[in-house]
Amino acid sequence: MNHDVVTGGAGFIGSALVRALLAEGRDVHVIDNLSTGKLDNLEEIADQVTIHELDLRDYRRIAPVIAGARRVFHLGALPSVPKSILQPVPSHECNIDGTFNVFHAAAEGKAGRVVYAASSSAYGDTEVLPKVETMAPRPKSPYAVQKLLGEYYGSVFSECFGLETVSLRFFNVFGPRQDPTSVYSGVLSIFLNCLIECRSPTIYGDGEQSRDFTYVEDVVGLLLKASQAQGVSGKVFNAGNGNRYTLNQTWQLLQEIEGIHLPAQYGPPRPGDVRDSQADTTAAVRELGHAPRFTFEQGLRLTLDWYRADLLRKGSGSRMDPQLVS
Ligand code: UD1
Repeated sequence: MNHDVVTGGAGFIGSALVRALLAEGRDVHVIDNLSTGKLDNLEEIADQVTIHELDLRDYRRIAPVIAGARRVFHLGALPSVPKSILQPVPSHECNIDGTFNVFHAAAEGKAGRVVYAASSSAYGDTEVLPKVETMAPRPKSPYAVQKLLGEYYGSVFSECFGLETVSLRFFNVFGPRQDPTSVYSGVLSIFLNCLIECRSPTIYGDGEQSRDFTYVEDVVGLLLKASQAQGVSGKVFNAGNGNRYTLNQTWQLLQEIEGIHLPAQYGPPRPGDVRDSQADTTAAVRELGHAPRFTFEQGLRLTLDWYRADLLRKGSGSRMDPQLVS
């Protein structure tokens, strides 16, 4: 039992985690079907990891990779709330069947622990902020249901099959390598690229919805801690920063950072959208040792620098293709 597995390891969070695991000298295996992940994300480290281009729905092929792993970080998923409403079947199959397969393969193959990427979307709209793990979930979209079901499976696999599992509810993670090219991309990847290209972003709704934006390196730090903490099997923790910014505040802050005036456009609100999101990090701090290091503005500046350097590296003008909506 020695290797680590990262499902979704070619995604933007997964590839950041892979880099951190390599820095610890680990033997890292990536499972990714490259549907939303990209080999580019692993470019300079590709020869240091074993990449398995596999679909999580293919139990027969993923099980041997997972068997005997010391830790399995299950980040592979079809993300996006609106996409899960427009295309519920692939998102159900990938996020529910795929997640079951990972837990099942880990239990059968006697893996050491599964750390599962759950989602803050499971809370839905709550009357009180910040959101605490003890609140009753109120999912508003297929994506939220799917991610919540994965948590339940995590707890049940711990209880019934003796598999060590920990679920981390990610709160709107952003950072380098987040793909900005789809309408389903994370809002900050879109905003930052609009800023660089001097284009107005579209804000869905009145822009007063708020999010706890979490810098990717803080999430990676917590993933590592969750993979080692004792006495936490079967539990669910918020993986947020504890802050809350509205989209209007965020776009304003970005204009100030860049020293430009570029008003946003507004469109209709998105179905399934949660109004406000903010993590209570007490449990993660106390039981996992969560210690976010990056303020929102620091994360924004680092990510902005990365996108700018990446554009220069690729030598392209605009990366946003309006036809690219899948
Ligand atoms: C949700 C989850 C998050 C999960 C993500 C996966 C919540 C609170 N968060 O993120 O944990 O990781 O799904 O996909 O449910 N928006 C714009 N303009 C744009 C794009 C988005 O205004 O061009 C708005 C959206 O309508 C939304 C906010 O920005 O109000 C954030 O959207 P997005 O980045 O897609 O993430 P969530 O759906 O909040």
